[in-house]
Amino acid sequence: MSSSTKNDRAAWLLGPGAKCAVIPQPRTRPWKLVLLGPPGVGKGTQAELLCRELGACHLSTGDVFRASGASRCAASPAMTEAIRYMLQGQLVPDSTVWQLVRERSGCLHCGGGFILDGFPRSLAQATALQQLLIDESISLDGVIFYVMPVEDIVARLSGRRTCQRCKAVYHLTGRPPAKPGICDNCGGNLIQREDDKPKAVEVRMQAYQQVTASVTQFYREMSLLVPIDARGAANEVLARTVTALKARRN
Ligand code: AP5
Repeated sequence: MSSSTKNDRAAWLLGPGAKCAVIPQPRTRPWKLVLLGPPGVGKGTQAELLCRELGACHLSTGDVFRASGASRCAASPAMTEAIRYMLQGQLVPDSTVWQLVRERSGCLHCGGGFILDGFPRSLAQATALQQLLIDESISLDGVIFYVMPVEDIVARLSGRRTCQRCKAVYHLTGRPPAKPGICDNCGGNLIQREDDKPKAVEVRMQAYQQVTASVTQFYREMSLLVPIDARGAANEVLARTVTALKARRN
């Protein structure tokens, strides 16, 4: 991938009708990964770092909903409903999430590999993904499961700021931008996500405990789960992740 042009992930964010600005370099053994873990544990941050390190594309379902919410184009009724769920901190219905992943399944064949972030999030989604992967002859290399105490997670969420334009993620104290309120990458304004307000955070944590935790058991039983301690600086967590992944391949 050219260092001067960032992959805008257009085919993922906008759907299969859109073309990515940069197609990742094909790899001989592209990484095919899923990231799991509670809201705010650092999945998006690690996904971005892992993409740079491994050359794979970051496929986040949350980013698809946020991109649709920010777009001026009229969203479909299902997408409008999905965004309403997201803003309240609730999980979007499985049928809507599945429809958007199914439409974008071409991204799973990206020559650079992929990192699914935020999907699957329920047992029904995990089962549906597994069948899709079998149908398309794709094998996952691993399912990274980030783990951290709840009080540290709440601190990460309350200090998170996101670039309105390029979606880069910062933290007021943990990963501050060079200039307060301004994105280092593109100069866009940094904002607090609507679902990072305390009420929505509470709902998201409950949804995670009730529904998403069963997904870890699904992948544990398939011997794909790779638990990683998410405490410490982002680069330390990245190093831990890469070491664990490479150990699986050796
Ligand atoms: P989604 O976008 O997937 O959000 P999430 O899983 O709740 O995760 P977050 O993005 O909140 O956190 P993260 O783990 O990525 O942490 P981050 O790296 O930003 O989903 C949003 C919503 O969409 C859902 O609630 C749901 O409504 C809907 N949705 C999406 N997918 C769905 C699905 N499959 N089914 C149903 N509904 C779905 O880090 C957090 C903060 O910590 C940042 O400020 C960051 O800078 C900081 N930080 C990270 N790492 C470190 C570190 N090591 N040291 C210091 N600071 C750090």
